[in-house]
Amino acid sequence: MADKLIIFDTTLRDGEQSPGASMTRDEKLRIARQLERLKVDVIEAGFAASSNGDFEAVQSIANTIKDSIVCSLSRANDRDISQAALALKGAQRARIHTFIATSALHMEKKLRMSPEQVLEQAKLSVRFAKNLIDDIEFSPEDGYRSDEDFLCRVLEAVIAEGATTINVPDTVGYAVPELYGNFIKRLRERIPNSDKAVWSVHCHNDLGMAVANSLAGVMIGGARQIECTINGLGERAGNCSLEEIVMAVKTRKDYYGLELGIDAKHIVATSRMVSQTTGFVVQPNKAVVGANAFAHASGIHQDGVLKARDTYEIMRAEDVGWSANKIVLGKLSGRNAFKQRLQDLGVQLESETDINTAFSKFKELADRKSEIFDEDILALVSDDSVSQVQEQFSFVSLSQRSETGEKPYASIVFKVHGKEVKSESEGNGPVDASLKAIESYVKSGAEMVLYSVNAISGSTESQGEVTVRLQNSGRVVNGVGSDPDIVVASSKAYLSALNKLQNKSDRVAAQG
Ligand code: KIV
Ligand code: ZN
Repeated sequence: MADKLIIFDTTLRDGEQSPGASMTRDEKLRIARQLERLKVDVIEAGFAASSNGDFEAVQSIANTIKDSIVCSLSRANDRDISQAALALKGAQRARIHTFIATSALHMEKKLRMSPEQVLEQAKLSVRFAKNLIDDIEFSPEDGYRSDEDFLCRVLEAVIAEGATTINVPDTVGYAVPELYGNFIKRLRERIPNSDKAVWSVHCHNDLGMAVANSLAGVMIGGARQIECTINGLGERAGNCSLEEIVMAVKTRKDYYGLELGIDAKHIVATSRMVSQTTGFVVQPNKAVVGANAFAHASGIHQDGVLKARDTYEIMRAEDVGWSANKIVLGKLSGRNAFKQRLQDLGVQLESETDINTAFSKFKELADRKSEIFDEDILALVSDDSVSQVQEQFSFVSLSQRSETGEKPYASIVFKVHGKEVKSESEGNGPVDASLKAIESYVKSGAEMVLYSVNAISGSTESQGEVTVRLQNSGRVVNGVGSDPDIVVASSKAYLSALNKLQNKSDRVAAQG
């Protein structure tokens, strides 16, 4: 039987480290449920010791997820490890992932520890963790740039202490496929007890080679776990992207010869959910999940595909969950049909009240838009106002005026702690006027570092999805809003970003 390749998803931990991508507990739980539907083997749910919010997110994911292993990251110290174990208490299958940097640069400049101290700390941490949970993963941070002899000593020691998975991160995305693959191979050959652990790869995408490096780690190095994120989300240029890894291994099974547990038909819905939750838009030409990934524009290609699909297509769009722009519901659809569709899309709302709120939003949308697509429904449930969490700011209504030669003007009504307020402003355009109207009341002083509009389902009839990224006092947040009217969508996105800025729960940076 072919070897199994373990898919370890770290969207909710390493992906979330991307500036502005931080998610609430409920958003993380929703994504974790979707990852379970996708059948990922391990979900890294967060870094429990970093903040109360992250602790609660790991805890609620651990209490909910049944089919995937739930993992928490922890630095190599007793407090972090105890917090991780506590948060994971309710999990059917739990894993602690502990790490410490091993490269000379990180040990000297960041940790200010000698190699011998790092070795000792790594051993003690794995020993401590092993007393709490059996499934222990160890990562030597910046492993790829570490001295090979020293790394061998550390990894042999932590395996002897009971680490069951050894993950070798290319933390800064410096690796090259053959070199990284051979590095893993040599480590496995040189470490006498290497066969007692599963070997894992964790590659960042700074040189655009995270997927290639990970696959080399598997094929040349013999690793059997890949760490990745949905849409390649992550700090800087991101992490290895799950959808690319999965479809490479499935499509080229003739070469890789590996088994995967993943149910690929949930890939597109998961990609959408992550993008809509974090506000990180997927580029149209992104492999597998980009809007153009299966579009054939050139006449020659179209002709070929019509005659025989495999002339130009190596994968089938429907196998990864592209549902050919299905019209799913309309104005006359009832609550049960809506609820069923939510279930089919993997969306589980917390309570009947949440379903009722989402359903009335759906009815409002159906009044304005004749065809409702899956994407509309996903956008609708990502909207802050569907979750019952009381946000500080929420949108109520807007009127705006723009005419050639006239100064655009907007008047907006929104709620601040449940109380309606009204504000107005002029601006360069209707969007600018609306956001200035909000800002003139709130006076957040935040700087806008990104504004992007995306049509959710293609045509001008579609809903606009807006991402607003705000920066204030060193914090960066993304707000997302959707509406058939892009001025309204922009205002919602701005208010959503302000809500996130208000949520001051500071977290300890994992690798800081
Ligand atoms: O990139 C990295 O080194 C990490 C570790 C914490 C595994 O994310
Ligand atoms: Zn990482």
